[in-house]
Amino acid sequence: MDEDRALIRTVDLTKYYGRHRAVEGLNFAVYGGEIFGFLGPNGAGKTTTMKMIVGLLRPTRGQAFVAGHDVVREPVAAKSVIGYVPEEPHLYAKLSGREFLRFVGDLYNMPADQVNRRADELLRLFDLDEAADSLIDSYSHGMRQKTAVAAALMHDPRVLVLDEPTAGLDPRSARLIKDILRQMAGRGTAVFLSTHIMEIAERMCDRIGIINAGQLVAIGTMEELRAMSAGQASLEDIFLSLTGGPEYAEIAEVLR
Ligand SMILES: Nc1ncnc2c1ncn2[C@@H]1O[C@H](COP(=O)(O)OP(=O)(O)OP(=O)(O)O)[C@@H](O)[C@H]1O
Ligand SMILES: [Mg+2]
Repeated sequence: MDEDRALIRTVDLTKYYGRHRAVEGLNFAVYGGEIFGFLGPNGAGKTTTMKMIVGLLRPTRGQAFVAGHDVVREPVAAKSVIGYVPEEPHLYAKLSGREFLRFVGDLYNMPADQVNRRADELLRLFDLDEAADSLIDSYSHGMRQKTAVAAALMHDPRVLVLDEPTAGLDPRSARLIKDILRQMAGRGTAVFLSTHIMEIAERMCDRIGIINAGQLVAIGTMEELRAMSAGQASLEDIFLSLTGGPEYAEIAEVLR
């Protein structure tokens, strides 16, 4: 793919918490129009990487670029094109869904009439219109998650970073989010998401990166990953053989 189309690029991106290595030497790119899935075991460094890309965490070493802007040196320019859904979204419980989306639109300095129109449109799209004027306090987990994704789309970002966007969603809500992300990619947005759900990675992502103990151990399309790990048919097998460690091999042996 053409280098210039990278909407996210990391260069030697590294984070240590004290002496603990969370992420080391990440070099990868996510392009406009693609959905890039980030897989890795618990504690592998996915959230840390995403926080550095969106400018919430300062790298120990290396850089992250978003739409060509260094997120540390040009934070405002970088953040203006990013939509981010954190692992545990913080929503204002004492606002209604509609008020929250309008609040987010105001933060991005969107004109008032556009804020209202966009909020209404997203509430409809995410099936939240009936609850739009109830307090977020009263929302179910799935409704909160959909509100968080809707908020990330308010300013029509060119780059979407989503940390486990479908965690805890029922099939209908998960499908809705997947369809919307596919549409965003179809319009040229770079979608960078982390997930533990192999089916999402395999069926929905154009390319996949696997991170283990802070390091990128594989990157490519499903076909490329399959070719890399000869004989492994499913993504789950590829994932476990790259990240599983000896205990997994032992269990597999016992069960055979
Ligand atoms: N604030 C922190 N202080 C110290 N260590 C941290 C901090 N945040 C994360 N870590 C450590 O950094 C490593 C990477 O954590 P991270 O949250 O990025 O993993 P993850 O891949 O998102 O995991 P999960 O799948 O469980 O969400 C872990 O070893 C974690 O314990
Ligand atoms: Mg995480």
